[in-house]
Amino acid sequence: MDPAIARLLTSPDGWALVEAMPPYVEAEAMALGTSMRAQGVAPELVSGVLTQSRLRADARVKFGDFAAGMLLTQDGLEQATRLEVAARHAARFRDAGVTRVADLTCGIGADAMAMSALGLTVTAVERDEATALIADHNLRHWPEAQVVHADSTEVAAHLEVDGYFVDPARRNARGRRHDPQDYSPSLDWVLGLRDLHPAVGVKVGPAVAHDMIPPEVEAEWVSVDGSVVEASLWCGPLAHTPGHVALVLRDGQAHRIAGDTHRADTGDLGEYVYEPDGAVIRAGLIGAVADRTATHLIDESIAYLTANTAIDSPFMRGYRVVEVLPLKTKAIAAALKARNVGAVDIKKRGVDITPEQLRPQLKLRGTQRATLILTRMPGHRAALIVEPL
Ligand SMILES: C[S@@+](CC[C@H](N)C(=O)[O-])C[C@H]1O[C@@H](n2cnc3c(N)ncnc32)[C@H](O)[C@@H]1O
Repeated sequence: MDPAIARLLTSPDGWALVEAMPPYVEAEAMALGTSMRAQGVAPELVSGVLTQSRLRADARVKFGDFAAGMLLTQDGLEQATRLEVAARHAARFRDAGVTRVADLTCGIGADAMAMSALGLTVTAVERDEATALIADHNLRHWPEAQVVHADSTEVAAHLEVDGYFVDPARRNARGRRHDPQDYSPSLDWVLGLRDLHPAVGVKVGPAVAHDMIPPEVEAEWVSVDGSVVEASLWCGPLAHTPGHVALVLRDGQAHRIAGDTHRADTGDLGEYVYEPDGAVIRAGLIGAVADRTATHLIDESIAYLTANTAIDSPFMRGYRVVEVLPLKTKAIAAALKARNVGAVDIKKRGVDITPEQLRPQLKLRGTQRATLILTRMPGHRAALIVEPL
């Protein structure tokens, strides 16, 4: 966003216009714009206000009702931590007795808002001018919160705080950066902050290589309703359990599992198959979940667990095995036809067939719906017709 637009939107008149917008309806946006222009509103402000109205509708997914009080940028919204997870970041600092936190990459301020809401005094640093103006607006309810428009790598050492939170930008003009040393700021720089204060928390990509994680920190992978949303490294007093942790947030409930990253045993396919949650897989905790649930792997290199009992666990999704077939299109098509199946959900691991390739080849015409798991098993590949538990 152009800083001039951010200035217009954060001005009392601009904000009053944003506040007065009705809920966003795409088909009505053009007429609304024409009417605002007819009333003498500057074209760049009209466009800025309409964008806010559109982004606000999208922002409800991450921020719920809070979205209504926020200004947003497209990039800022995409990169922002969702409220439920930001509240957990903030609680780490509060529970560790940290009272003054620097959020060194505050973006539009989602994490900084959650920290402020928990009573922490936040210094929020952002190097992009428009984003910093927006963060300042979003933090307006907390007079103690301060937004600094600067490069953190230049100012961090001079801030009077007792802990740091960093959610580095993981994309730049060349696209998404996977190597943590290419983040802005880099992971090495962030971890170096521990020399100033031990309480450092940093968000990293969920695919972070395990060997980049210092052994004494807590690395926590988080999923929300089945999708992995982040991994974070918590240092010093912010680490509850040094090592790997998976945090599964589902239907408003939090489930946490910690453990070492040992391999689960492999054994025969049982009557039920279980798909571990993505956070468990990324954290390397399939072995820990297998121990806890008395399940084992179907194949040592594939993330499907199995057992002869129906198990209810937040760390995995279960399916009853209805039929085991060879992974051959003809055999699968015939078995599904016999069950009058017309629509099939296909899951796969360890095989190179894509659901998009297979589905049309099955030529399904029935009225029932089924779930198919395509997987590798020791020595062969199989298709399992399953029923979600
Ligand atoms: C992933 S976003 C942060 C999102 C934020 N945690 C939230 O929940 O809204 C990263 C932000 O860091 C900013 N940034 C990147 N490098 C920076 C640096 N060296 N100093 C200050 N800000 C930086 C980017 O401009 C971007 O807005």
